[in-house]
Amino acid sequence: PRSIWLSRHGESEFNLSGQIGGDANISDRGELYARALPDLVTSSVGDDRQLTIWTSTLKRTIQTARFLHASPKGYDKLEWKALDELDSGVCDGLTYQEIADQYPEDFKARDDDKHNYRYRGGESYRDVVIRLEPIIMELERSENIIIVTHQAVLRCIYAYYMNVPQEKSPWMEVPLHTLIKLTPRAYSTEEQRFKANI
Ligand code: G3H
Repeated sequence: PRSIWLSRHGESEFNLSGQIGGDANISDRGELYARALPDLVTSSVGDDRQLTIWTSTLKRTIQTARFLHASPKGYDKLEWKALDELDSGVCDGLTYQEIADQYPEDFKARDDDKHNYRYRGGESYRDVVIRLEPIIMELERSENIIIVTHQAVLRCIYAYYMNVPQEKSPWMEVPLHTLIKLTPRAYSTEEQRFKANI
């Protein structure tokens, strides 16, 4: 059966400092995840199928996928701008505390309606769902794709396959350093998770 593999990028320097957005490098721990990913993927695939890697255009996803790309199997790789993280506009690079201090109304508005709230000069989750439509269409006609992208983007893709209402998806936790394998069946999608031992 066709499956789709999903992963967040490895822990980034911004994850450590609590800053959102940006284009940071992965941390030392993120690097461990990048190195662990080829074996984690192999164990989840179960046969010698070739996968194709889709990343965003941001460094943290490309760095996370690089051993998968360079491994003996050498999976092909495609970078999609449409897989970039939700654009947080003027709040890019800030911590949640800094956003609460500098843009208190925005901070509250987002908490009240996280799906529809659009960052000043940036995007809402609703915007991300719309820009993901071509990705989902391409995914539906492809096989054996592993997507390495960002939490907000993964929430939307995951919600699509797991039939979670998009209004709820902004609140879902997508853990770091965990590979998610989704296998669509006739009436539901089967999910398996593989946590890296790092
Ligand atoms: O790490 C940041 C997430 O990708 C976006 O988080 O939409 O819950 O603020 P948030």
